[in-house]
Amino acid sequence: MKLPILIINMKVYPEVLGKRALELAKVAEAVSRELGVSIAVAPPITELRLVAENVGIPVYAQGADPVEPGARTGHVPPEFIKEAGASGVILNHSENRLLLNDLGWLVNRAKNLGLETLVCAPDPYTSAAAAALEPTAVAVEPPELIGTGKAVSREKPDVIVKTVELVKRVNPSIPVITGAGIESYEDVKRAVELGTQGVLVASAIVKARDWRQKIMELAKALH
Ligand code: G3P
Repeated sequence: MKLPILIINMKVYPEVLGKRALELAKVAEAVSRELGVSIAVAPPITELRLVAENVGIPVYAQGADPVEPGARTGHVPPEFIKEAGASGVILNHSENRLLLNDLGWLVNRAKNLGLETLVCAPDPYTSAAAAALEPTAVAVEPPELIGTGKAVSREKPDVIVKTVELVKRVNPSIPVITGAGIESYEDVKRAVELGTQGVLVASAIVKARDWRQKIMELAKALH
């Protein structure tokens, strides 16, 4: 993971239904090249291979299931994510929570497969617990701010500061990323000033009238 990083979580918003996910990923790739800023995208799982095969920026899966390949129905084991071309996986997002045992299993499994892991957590202490699993990075996202346009870096700067402090205590080599409500250049700038090494953004980009303009605005703060 090249830091600082802007990670675009497309979720499953209707705006990225079907081929639109690839279009957004291509815009992100163009901005990343133009500014020389690290940007990764997490498309809907159905578009993972298409996006991974057609852009040169890191592509993350939005999640994985704690199962081995085999007689499973409707599950996505990490092996299938890797084979689809993803370079990493977001785990334990507030909208897709995992049990601790399953999270630990998935982080290890992903690591063995050469997949990066971005483990999300809702608060500083859970972030510290996540860091103990030694993922590639931890992302702190207060769930109550997700999708609100009220940025974590403005509304809850103390959460970021405390998370950075606790994660450093557990393992100083694990970077902290943050997300929830981030929508402007200032929000990203502030997040970095508070000690994070990147941001995880969804609605402000996916729902923007002009994807390029919004990605450009946020990425410039990491320049
Ligand atoms: O994964 C990022 C996400 O949960 C934040 O969502 O819409 O507040 O940027 P949003």
